[in-house]
Amino acid sequence: MKIAISGKGGVGKTLLASLLAKTFAESGYSVLAIDADPDSNLAATLGFPDSDKITPISEMKELVEERTGARPGRAESFFKLNPKVDDLPEKYSLKHNGIRLMAMGRVKKGGTGCYCPENALLQALVTHLLLARDEVVILDMEAGIEHLGRATAKAVDKLIVVVEPGRRSVETAYKIDKLAKDIGLHNLAIVGNKLRNPLEREFLISNLPGFEFLGFIPYDQALVDADLANLPLLNSSQQIINEVKNIYQALLPIAQTPNPRN
Ligand SMILES: Nc1ncnc2c1ncn2[C@@H]1O[C@H](COP(=O)(O)OP(=O)(O)OP(=O)(O)O)[C@@H](O)[C@H]1O
Ligand SMILES: [Mg+2]
Repeated sequence: MKIAISGKGGVGKTLLASLLAKTFAESGYSVLAIDADPDSNLAATLGFPDSDKITPISEMKELVEERTGARPGRAESFFKLNPKVDDLPEKYSLKHNGIRLMAMGRVKKGGTGCYCPENALLQALVTHLLLARDEVVILDMEAGIEHLGRATAKAVDKLIVVVEPGRRSVETAYKIDKLAKDIGLHNLAIVGNKLRNPLEREFLISNLPGFEFLGFIPYDQALVDADLANLPLLNSSQQIINEVKNIYQALLPIAQTPNPRN
């Protein structure tokens, strides 16, 4: 099962990615968590030791050069568009509490036609992870879906857009839905997060008509307190853990259905 998570900044993407990874791993699935957000803290949230010392793939200049034939930063050079990547998950993933993690780093953005060796390597790697790997893959992304393309769209079983009660995060959900449809990705679902009361839930439902809702996660001050006290976030709120278990249950039928592309 391949799950990608997107949404406006700060809505709770990394928290959901981490708790889903933990839930799948505890249920016996082999889980690969991919940190595809350049400013991300997925490793830290998952409790990886020395998470601040992890070098993302896009910053491994030697590796980028070895695989693509071009040094990052030299836009004019030629490079391979299909670099070898199938050995990278074994070499560059870390394991902790039964979860494997890979940090991708920044996808360079720019006008159309902006293409550089780091992006070629990341695209090839994400495509490989989504198409060829037989495990639960959870992609923690930024507000867009830059790591996905037409080739990978079919492999994503669910693009989860996290929203909080607020117009901006709802607008971002519409933008992501449009980007997703542009690449042929139609399996999008919403998770509402940081809900304080039923009115906020109603706000999300009425402002996102026609969208599938996978679940609603309550706002829990315990999480904020844990964050301030620099305590592990993942175990700090039982009600959030329970709701993510419901979301996991809602996703399970996809994992158990044989994938038609295989
Ligand atoms: N349900 C919740 N209740 C209380 N606090 C929450 C909840 N969900 C997330 N938070 C807090 O909100 C902050 C942002 O969460 P998180 O880092 O998961 O969001 P994000 O979407 O990944 O952010 P970014 O866009 O910066 O990557 C964190 O401090 C997190 O602890
Ligand atoms: Mg994040």
